[in-house]
Amino acid sequence: MLYSEIVMDHFTNPRNVGTIEDADGIGEVGNAKCGDIMRIYLKINNDIIEDVKFETFGCGSAIASSSMATEMIKGKPLSDALTLTNKAVAEALDGLPAHKLHCSVLAEEAIKDAIKNYYDKNGIEYDHEQFKQSDHDHDHDH
Ligand code: FES
Repeated sequence: MLYSEIVMDHFTNPRNVGTIEDADGIGEVGNAKCGDIMRIYLKINNDIIEDVKFETFGCGSAIASSSMATEMIKGKPLSDALTLTNKAVAEALDGLPAHKLHCSVLAEEAIKDAIKNYYDKNGIEYDHEQFKQSDHDHDHDH
């Protein structure tokens, strides 16, 4: 079978879908190759992610990855969410087909982007190295 049962479960019944109106941090990333977009909304209190919602305009693997990733960071400190890797998300999903692994990268990057947005909005200092994006959506034409 191409997709694990866990992937199918999170795809057909995704957790934490939607938006948070007074979100403390919002992240948005897109995949230049497939054109899919993911948004993450965070409600943060005392460095703890109290609530998280996502919107994904993307494929089934992106939906399953965001659903799993939001479940993995909910109720956790920001420091934990920052170390969440797409590999950990894919493992929690019991694997993704190799050509679908990039879809889980979107979840990791959208979460990081939302945390960065929260830090920026609140003037909190952070290590910029932590937010280095993979090279797929950068332009180098200068
Ligand atoms: Fe674009 Fe999966 S094919 S995120």
